[in-house]
Amino acid sequence: MPTPPSDSRDAGVPLIFELGRRGRANRYLEEGKPLDAFLPRPVLRDELPLPDNSELDVVRHYTKLSQRTFGIDLGFYPLGSCTMKYNPRVNDAIVAVPAFAQLHPFTPDDLAQGALMVMYELERSLSSLFGMAAFSLNPSAGAHAELGALLIAKKYFKERGETLRDKVIVPDTAHGTNPASAAMCGFSVISLPSDERGRVGVAEIRKVLGPDTAVCMMTNPNTLGLFEESIAEIAAAVHEVGGLMYYDGANANAIMGYTRPGDMGFDLMHLNTHKTFTIPHGGGGAGHGPLGVAAHLTEYLPTPVVTREDSMLRLDFDRPKSIGPMRSFWSNFAHAARALAYLYANGAEGLKRVSALAVLNANYVRVKVAEFLETPYAEPCRHEFVASAQTLKREHGVRALDLAKALLDHGYMAPTIYFPLIVPECLMIEPTETESKETLDAFVAALRSIVETAKRDPEALFAAPLTTVVGRVDETRAARQPDLRWRPSAEGAATRIP
Ligand SMILES: Cc1ncc(COP(=O)(O)O)c(C=O)c1O
Repeated sequence: MPTPPSDSRDAGVPLIFELGRRGRANRYLEEGKPLDAFLPRPVLRDELPLPDNSELDVVRHYTKLSQRTFGIDLGFYPLGSCTMKYNPRVNDAIVAVPAFAQLHPFTPDDLAQGALMVMYELERSLSSLFGMAAFSLNPSAGAHAELGALLIAKKYFKERGETLRDKVIVPDTAHGTNPASAAMCGFSVISLPSDERGRVGVAEIRKVLGPDTAVCMMTNPNTLGLFEESIAEIAAAVHEVGGLMYYDGANANAIMGYTRPGDMGFDLMHLNTHKTFTIPHGGGGAGHGPLGVAAHLTEYLPTPVVTREDSMLRLDFDRPKSIGPMRSFWSNFAHAARALAYLYANGAEGLKRVSALAVLNANYVRVKVAEFLETPYAEPCRHEFVASAQTLKREHGVRALDLAKALLDHGYMAPTIYFPLIVPECLMIEPTETESKETLDAFVAALRSIVETAKRDPEALFAAPLTTVVGRVDETRAARQPDLRWRPSAEGAATRIP
């Protein structure tokens, strides 16, 4: 393990507010002249205490901050269920084109035909790639689209007079946002246990289906990286009792060009284009969650929808059955443009190859990791797989958390841990298709050496990470008592975040 440089745990970077000194920001302005000699009075803010910093100080400040974190551009990022693949720079070049970047959201449709064409083409392409009748590009993330889809289901059932449908079925492998979205939408959640092969069984789901079934939310491949082989039968059973099938598309990177949610029997779905279509994400950053529907639900899609009349495209708000907009303005447009750029760059064959390589890479790592860690579902996976540190914990007291922290010292982002909940001491590894064999081999070697250390000298891992700016934090306090606000103190001086 690398020795930490002595200054790696510094006292922190001061806040930009603490760096400011009165008058420093105004060095391009003529001495003594008031600000409204340079900017119109209505755009000046008296009540917003922005810090006075020179441009150089600002550049240094944010560059320093960027060096204290980890991202896909720095190293391997096998964060399961997040598809942290390389984001081609050409996507950013395309959205930086002034005609896109400077377009005002209130530009009349006839002057925004290029941008509308981006949205229209993306919507049509996603519909054909995933077998849906139509998509709305409106929601800003996967969870946001889940909520939108459940609002659609609610409205659909209400209009049919089926108001007793209040149950949403969610397998126990599902991401927490699935039951959370259902609860937020006023449904009660039935958690469905997976079988010993990590799948939803047809007999098991039949036990909970009935006239109160509203929606069954499924991820396929599921979060164990396993394909739900009985999906067609499950969908038929849900439809038989009048329920709707919802596809959580977080794992779409595994299926492109091989199968489509529409063909599996799903009525509603979301995509996380920030995962599958190479859009920078992480740290809760801006996302994009297109929401797709089958033909019988298109009228309910969030507004606006881009429609085509002759050769003119327009934003259609006049949709009486729509659940309405899910966010301000039309969509996270820059992300839509990035997603389309990625689609065009790959084409249908290229996207199929993306999925094939994502699955190949995951299986390559899975087989190697199985030599030194348990892999509870020992069969070919799709784009990700789960390993477990439960024996290491039992025999040496080393947990999945310790392995994950130790990986940071080797220059890798940790895999997702403790999810899905049904795997004790779970590590969920998703390598993605953009990594080379050398990177995958080096990662496996690092994990192997950490596991060897765990058996030989477990104590050595408990303090990891040693080389990062921040070591182990009190996770309970961080989750329960986050204090992320800066406030000026009574004297007007800055107050540090505790
Ligand atoms: C399986 C699964 N479903 C849903 C989501 C929610 O997506 P988002 O983070 O875009 O809201 C995630 C996020 O990681 C996920 O992994």
